Amino acid sequence: MTSNLFEPVTLGAVELPHRVLMAPLTRMRATPPGDVPNDLMREYYVQRAGAGLIVSEGTQISTEGKGYMDTPGIYSAEQVEGWRRITDAVHEAGGRIAAQLWHVGRVSHESFHGGELPLSASALPYRNRTTVKGPDGGPLRVSCPTPRAATAADIARTLDDYRRATENAREAGFDLVEIHGAHGYLLHQFLSSVSNHRDDEYGGPVENRARLMLEAVDAVVDAWSADRVGIRISPVGVFNGLEALDDGAADDGLHVAAELGRRDLAFLHLSEPDWAGGPALTDEYRAQLKQAFPGPIVGAGAYTTDKAERLVEAGLIDAVAFGRAYIANPDLDVRIRDGVAYNEPNTATFYGGGAAGYTDYPALV
Ligand SMILES: Cc1cc2nc3c(=O)[nH]c(=O)nc-3n(C[C@H](O)[C@H](O)[C@H](O)COP(=O)(O)O)c2cc1C
Repeated sequence: MTSNLFEPVTLGAVELPHRVLMAPLTRMRATPPGDVPNDLMREYYVQRAGAGLIVSEGTQISTEGKGYMDTPGIYSAEQVEGWRRITDAVHEAGGRIAAQLWHVGRVSHESFHGGELPLSASALPYRNRTTVKGPDGGPLRVSCPTPRAATAADIARTLDDYRRATENAREAGFDLVEIHGAHGYLLHQFLSSVSNHRDDEYGGPVENRARLMLEAVDAVVDAWSADRVGIRISPVGVFNGLEALDDGAADDGLHVAAELGRRDLAFLHLSEPDWAGGPALTDEYRAQLKQAFPGPIVGAGAYTTDKAERLVEAGLIDAVAFGRAYIANPDLDVRIRDGVAYNEPNTATFYGGGAAGYTDYPALV
């Protein structure tokens, strides 16, 4: 039987030849100083150009938005030039690529910010770790500090950064942008009542906690066009020290999905909790999300092809994004289509380093 994953699908302004997408994957190999995308990254993305859509690794919209060593940015001219070389090469190879716009908020470290504390919704102590550059230049895991609460000026500047990053992504030749609203990073920190204890118009009821996420969406849409903008959310689960497992979190997700649904976005990317140890989403919750957000939904997180085919068939998702399988299989779409076994990923080379475990996974031909 031909898989329904190989039927075309349209995400906003972009037509995809099939529904097997490459999930955003931080690999920490940009060139310092300046966090510039480089030729090694270009080779890695070109190898994966057979994906229906590549979503780039998380790409910080500003130096304030950075939380890990050697992640690429999209705020300087040099970075835009680096990305341009990558998007051109992906297009030449027949692919399509979205930029994942990232602000980590509190999942960061003062060493990235000249000794200043990272910003978040509230100045709450929490337990999480991030990766800085160690004395030997390699990755070193460190505890994240208690962040400072964003002021009105911080929020206004952050929204400007989203706007500028979108203009840059467009100039760099990306087909789409994906706002990173998931995994306990800044927008999720504002959305969750666990990390947001504010008493201004950004705190309290979900309408207020969702405000920054929706303002960021509106700023990004304003800087480009709704049919070029998607967003990734993970309202339920445990990610980066943010535990959102109560009914409140699921309801927050539905509120956000409905608000996003009104904005005619290119897609909603749902990062599901099971791969990070959380509970699997129920089909009932998926159906509620689909009703709230009538546009295309991309599912991701511990998917098998069987699960993806079943959920596409049921009309609960429109496409699937694979993460770890794409790290180890540059031609994953071909392997799925032809039923060929996968290479196994090596977790030791996920973050940082060079070509080993990055561009040296074999393709079939
Ligand atoms: C090494 C690694 C890096 C990741 N980086 C990102 C990222 O930059 N942005 C993001 O939204 N998710 C990121 N994720 C999550 C993946 O996009 C994906 O949701 C997760 O791997 C689950 O899918 P899988 O079971 O197919 O691997 C990362 C996951 C891994 C393993």
